[in-house]
Amino acid sequence: MLNRPRRLRRTAAMRAMVRETRLSPSMLVYPIFIREGRNIIEDISAMPGQKRYSPDEFPRALERVAEAGVSNVLLFGLPERKDEQGSGAWAENGVIQQALREGKKHFPQMLFITDVCMCEYTSHGHCGVLKGTEVDNDPTVELLARAAVSQARAGADVVAPSDMMDGRVGAIRAALDEAGFDEVAVLSYAVKYASAFYGPFREAAGSAPAFGDRKGYQMDPRNSREAMREVALDLEEGADMVMVKPGLPYLDVLKTVKEISPVPVGAYCVSGEYAMIKAAAMKGWLDEERAACEAATCLVRAGADILITYHAPELAGWIREGKL
Ligand code: PBG
Ligand code: ZN
Repeated sequence: MLNRPRRLRRTAAMRAMVRETRLSPSMLVYPIFIREGRNIIEDISAMPGQKRYSPDEFPRALERVAEAGVSNVLLFGLPERKDEQGSGAWAENGVIQQALREGKKHFPQMLFITDVCMCEYTSHGHCGVLKGTEVDNDPTVELLARAAVSQARAGADVVAPSDMMDGRVGAIRAALDEAGFDEVAVLSYAVKYASAFYGPFREAAGSAPAFGDRKGYQMDPRNSREAMREVALDLEEGADMVMVKPGLPYLDVLKTVKEISPVPVGAYCVSGEYAMIKAAAMKGWLDEERAACEAATCLVRAGADILITYHAPELAGWIREGKL
């Protein structure tokens, strides 16, 4: 037969040459949990392989991350004491602030991204201050801006608001500029769904809401056009990068966000996605390496420029070994 279209996948070299999706360790972001205390490295039971570190142990964690070839980290803080306002989020000597100073001192080349939210710091576990049983948007936005500035002062390169309050990106941008941190970038969790896949994270961060849920401020999984509105608003307010979260169940959303976004797009492969792969692998039901590589590849294929994942250190190694 003449002019038969050829399948360009007969040999490994051919497959490598024509692949449409390529990953690099430089696109990976590794989330790390920091808890108050000294000399503490503790396991997170719902996320086997992930740990909480006290600020003094943080450089040791970074050493392993850097050795693996990952240069970007996303930090979550667990304060000793929580209160109604979540004041630990902007405390001069807060847990994240301590970790940032330690980390910056030992690893000045590393990119430090900080999660900006109140739920790890509030006694009720909601992402802002309450009016009755609802999160009060505008006062919360002020506190988020305060937390972001405090993190920038302690050394954050990028702040990542994950609260989903209206107007927070603009308020954070203005507050950073006013405090002289105009070089600090904002990576907005622009498209964040009210998802069951955050379950293990809430165990890790001790941030499950004491009552109710987050459906009043996080997005409804049934909606995708709304995601475009969220992205547009955050861009208008000055977001430098936007993120879609969770990852795999929202590939369609990620793809459309990539189409409309003039700024880099991140995908967050969240705690539940990690836990699912881990749990099945521990039972011998699937191959962890292949599943994690495939998940990462598919997120990048769908449009992720930045990949936030608990598998980041392993993935960096697998990328170098040519596994994906
Ligand atoms: C804080 C926050 C959450 C996650 C990132 N930032 C939890 C939540 O909104 O309940 C989830 C990350 C993960 O599941 O890995 N708002
Ligand atoms: Zn929150």
